[in-house]
Amino acid sequence: MANIKPINTARLEVPLTKEVAVTWQAPSNIALVKYWGKTGIQLPVNPSLSMTLSVACTITTVTALPRENEGPAEIDFYFDGKPEADFGNRIETYLNSIASYMPILNQVKLKIETHNTFPHSTGIASSASAFSALALCLCSLEAKLCNVLITEHEFRSKASYLARLGSGSACRSVLPGFALWGFTVSFPGSSDQLAVQTSDIHPDFYTLHDAILIVHDEKKKVSSSEGHNRMIGHPFAKARVKQANENVEKLLVALKSGDKKAFIQIVENEALTLHALMMTSKNGFMLMYPQTIDIINRIQQWRLQTGIDVCFTLDAGPNIHLMFFEKDFEQIQKLIVEELSLKIKQNRVIYDSCGKGPVNLA
Ligand code: DP6
Repeated sequence: MANIKPINTARLEVPLTKEVAVTWQAPSNIALVKYWGKTGIQLPVNPSLSMTLSVACTITTVTALPRENEGPAEIDFYFDGKPEADFGNRIETYLNSIASYMPILNQVKLKIETHNTFPHSTGIASSASAFSALALCLCSLEAKLCNVLITEHEFRSKASYLARLGSGSACRSVLPGFALWGFTVSFPGSSDQLAVQTSDIHPDFYTLHDAILIVHDEKKKVSSSEGHNRMIGHPFAKARVKQANENVEKLLVALKSGDKKAFIQIVENEALTLHALMMTSKNGFMLMYPQTIDIINRIQQWRLQTGIDVCFTLDAGPNIHLMFFEKDFEQIQKLIVEELSLKIKQNRVIYDSCGKGPVNLA
């Protein structure tokens, strides 16, 4: 278990007298081994391993403002420059839930301004980038105001821990490249409470691309949170936890050695398992569309025909994440344009790739 101390009790010694602002840009991430099912306070039932993206990001500015009295979190929340009540309420609840880990949240007023670099309603989960950017901003503020979180390790650990409490997958987005969340026997320092970076990676994997093929962009009929709930008492829950642990171990080996065939096998196995778990839960549901299935079949067939290392993954939705290596970019683009585009809603494809992690903009 990682040795972390997210619970510092740093407080403002004297009340704030002037505004202090910080800005972070944080990316989304795509899980290669999926987090599906949680327990306790937002702890995963199995380890997950993700690739941090670079294009799909949230940019958040948090400004700490003086306030008269201490008390529950006080915020003004803006999304794309406009007040946004629904998300604002969720953020307020979140801030109150983490205030014991960050007492300054009860001592200052916060103005939170946030914006996504990817279009709305593309089915890309924005909660990972959003909570990652927010948690990083909060940690920067705490560092500035209270002179804590001095080392990079302390800072990232706390940011990941807090991001997890907002949305599980967000804890992986504070790290560059490949991130592991969840205790894993062979990985010292891994933890259920926060994500750690996996740096022993063959250079080819840093050239991975993720073309997100938008099949459908309406609100999902079953949210991820509800999906996690359906793993409670799921008839295959025990086998799933075992499988995810094994897949993480195997993927770590494949990423290190550069074994692309093993990578493809594990990543597709995880995607199909995720959706199979949804279908076989109590009151089963299906988030794939016919086009999703058509595209999956075509990708697998094309891989056999061409021998090119390409595979798909899915998150909890119908859109395809087409994963391939930089050197095959042109052929993949041809595949998308010439063979898959009719199945993609309004030809919408977001070209993303393995990313370098969050950036502190101010
Ligand atoms: C299928 O992190 O969105 O994308 O913790 O309830 O916010 P909450 O869930 P969330 O779940 C992500 C599920 C997934 C797999 C993954 O990202 O590992």
